[in-house]
Amino acid sequence: MTLLAIETSCDETSAAVVREGKVLANIVSSQIKLHAEYGGVVPELAAREHLRNLIPVTQTALAEAGVQAGQLDAVAATQGPGLPNALIVGFKAAQAVAFALGKPFVGINHHEAHLYSPWIQTASPSPLKGERAGVRDELLPCADFSKFQPNISLIVSGGHTMIVLVESELNHRVLGGTIDDAAGECFDKTGKLMGLAYPAGPEIDRLAEQGNPAAFDFPRPLLHDASDDFSFSGLKTSVRYFIRDHPELLDDAEKICDLCASVQAAIVEVLVKKTIRAAKRNGVRCVTASGGVTCNRALRHELARACEREGFTLRLADKALCTDNAAMVGILAERKLLHQLPLSPLDEEIKPGWVLT
Ligand code: KG4
Ligand code: ZN
Repeated sequence: MTLLAIETSCDETSAAVVREGKVLANIVSSQIKLHAEYGGVVPELAAREHLRNLIPVTQTALAEAGVQAGQLDAVAATQGPGLPNALIVGFKAAQAVAFALGKPFVGINHHEAHLYSPWIQTASPSPLKGERAGVRDELLPCADFSKFQPNISLIVSGGHTMIVLVESELNHRVLGGTIDDAAGECFDKTGKLMGLAYPAGPEIDRLAEQGNPAAFDFPRPLLHDASDDFSFSGLKTSVRYFIRDHPELLDDAEKICDLCASVQAAIVEVLVKKTIRAAKRNGVRCVTASGGVTCNRALRHELARACEREGFTLRLADKALCTDNAAMVGILAERKLLHQLPLSPLDEEIKPGWVLT
């Protein structure tokens, strides 16, 4: 089966072509630079960029995959959750392609796509950003569900933070989530307080490398709470007060690195400990993680250490597939079609508030 997938839920316009678990092409056009000027994603600008970019991005994906539109067997797109005006661009365009080709269409939950993204493995060197032509078949990113194990999955992005129990493929239950800010939002907002550009997550990651994570003691919200829920707004407020009371720190490059490392340590400790605890409580021996914040090196390192200590298998989404992309949408859609799950009607609407359950 050859499937075209489209993702436009937030600020990345992406199109991918997948075939039998292989990602033949995955083109991502990021709008980060556009929104950085405003300190966050501006929904109307995001929608206009998607309109501008969707056709060229899709044409590039098809060309890179060496696939003609007429050779597609199915089409998929992110249906929600996300920004309504952004979602509608990719979702309606994908429905139109399916209509024109007379092929099946699948609407995908963005978080469910992140959830299964750790099962897509990218051989090194990554062909995702390189030349498609000449890339050997075995180097293409490939989903491998033959190794599937029941797992606890941490989804950490700019909009959501959740712990999910995945009992079997396509059979999952959300155990907990954030009751206020998401982990990525906490990185971005605390970074903004330090004067870092949006999105601050990657910059905090970079600066924290030269800092001391024990320099300042920030709260670990809900760490000892029995639930699988998270809360990060208190941590953000505590950073705000700390900077208000010690503004001189921001004039010292070394101290900014310490601040980044300390904030990062607080976020990472909560994410790792709660994930491991959920795995133990549910008797699973595999942990997976996905979403933009899974790019964070301290999080990857601490999850790896904790899983090694517990004897758990760890599957981290490939960095290129942590942030939003259509490859994960296509891989999940193909699995749903293979499992003969229902198709989405072509007159179905977007679901901006679609909650993963
Ligand atoms: O999954 P994603 O691309 O978009 C959403 O669905 O939200 O995640 C974006 C988030 C942003 O908050 C960004 O700051 C964060 O992921 N992020 C990071 C890193 N790379 C991206 N946070 C911490 N460390 C990183 N290296
Ligand atoms: Zn996402």
